[in-house]
Parts: sequence; C-alpha cells; structure tokens
Amino acid sequence: MKYELTKALETGNAIIDKEHRELFRAVNSLMDACSKGQGRAAIEPTIKFLLDYVNKHFSHEEELQQKYKYPNIAAHKQFHIGYTRRLKEIVNAIPAAGPTVMNLSSINNHIAALVTHIRTEDKKLGAFLNGK
Ligand SMILES: [Fe+2]
Repeated sequence: MKYELTKALETGNAIIDKEHRELFRAVNSLMDACSKGQGRAAIEPTIKFLLDYVNKHFSHEEELQQKYKYPNIAAHKQFHIGYTRRLKEIVNAIPAAGPTVMNLSSINNHIAALVTHIRTEDKKLGAFLNGK
C-alpha cells in the first residue's frame, strides 16, 4: 500500500501540503526498501531521511504557528514531540531486527496516526493560515 496525499488530506497551505506529500514519499521509500528485503545499507538512509524530514516539517509548521499566533500551538507542538519520539523508536529498531511483520505494522499504525493528525489538526491549521 502506498501512502498518498489525497484531496481530503490537503490543508490548503501550499508549503504544508508539499511537505506532507514529500513525507508520504519518504514513508513509501522506507516501506519499499523493507518489502524488497533490502539490507541495512539500503534501509538505513531511508530511515535517516524520514526522521530528518519529519523534524524539518514539524519545525516549519511550528514556525508558521508562531508567526501567525495560532491559538492551538501548545497542543499541536505536544503532538509533534510525542509523535517524533515514538517514530524514532519504531524506525530505529528496524536495522537491528530487520523489517519484521511486527515492526512494519508498528510503522503503519504510527503513520495512520499521522494521517489522522493531518486530516484533523493540520487541516484546522491550514484553514487558520488561509484566513490570515
Ligand atoms: Fe502538524
């Protein structure tokens, strides 16, 4: 299954939508590398890219929230912190254990939480930014 930024997931903010698309691409690359049974050397760079990209993207969203004084900034930031922490744990476990069914399903569950966050919180943020 490929992750895709469908219409329903667009926030209406061009930067955020572009980064969400890129983020899904990064997840797809990691899943591809895992499902092809590629070794550590192929999987590790996709993990690194995903973690770096998530950090960069969450920082951009937070900068926009700060700049435009988004009222829900504290809770949104809290989600980002918890999300990143857990994502790191899950994906960093892959090189040692290999892409087991269990850690692939952990990734999928964790990405599902991101999709929900995009559909709810990031969409609210997009609507707010569009009103500015
Ligand atoms: Fe967000």
